[in-house]
Amino acid sequence: MPREIISAAAIARRVAELGREIDRQLPGGELAVVGILRGAFVFMSDLVRAIPREVVMCDFLGVRSYGDATVSSGVVEITSDLALPIEGRHVLLVEDIVDTGLTLRYLVDLLAARGPASLHVCALLDKASGRKTAVSVDFVGFAAPDRFVVGYGLDAAQRYRNLPYIAELDERAPAVPTF
Ligand code: IMP
Ligand code: MG
Repeated sequence: MPREIISAAAIARRVAELGREIDRQLPGGELAVVGILRGAFVFMSDLVRAIPREVVMCDFLGVRSYGDATVSSGVVEITSDLALPIEGRHVLLVEDIVDTGLTLRYLVDLLAARGPASLHVCALLDKASGRKTAVSVDFVGFAAPDRFVVGYGLDAAQRYRNLPYIAELDERAPAVPTF
């Protein structure tokens, strides 16, 4: 079973702080929050409720970067695009975890090319030691260990996404059986 490393209460406290930091540091007025599916949807649903603004547009980008493997392929596939245009808008891109940075690098370039008024990134977890490309993350929830983590939206081959806390997988008992 996964071992808890960040409790639901600790996540709630940090998300409340992140909401205030984001509100203070981003330009005022309307904000377009773009969540990367599927991993970021749990985090994003809590985060938008912590941002005290009247207009917080919510949109989503469907992305596949890993398939069901636990190592980065470096290949990013858009499975579902935004519903709304972001040109001229203040955009906050919300990701579950940044490891190599390859997924985020691709998505930041993609969104920047659409001419937003500003583009910032918020990631729940940062595995800084895994970076293979330079990418700036403006708001980070927690530093993550260099292990595969699950829960609070993050999955291992579709398992454990619904855990209310963040846990690391026991590497001696992989969640993805190999045959
Ligand atoms: P990157 O492209 O290597 O930065 O990986 C980013 C994507 O891989 C994230 O959107 C996650 O979906 C997934 N990912 C990376 N590390 C983990 C992990 O420890 N647990 C679950 N998903 C992960
Ligand atoms: Mg993901």
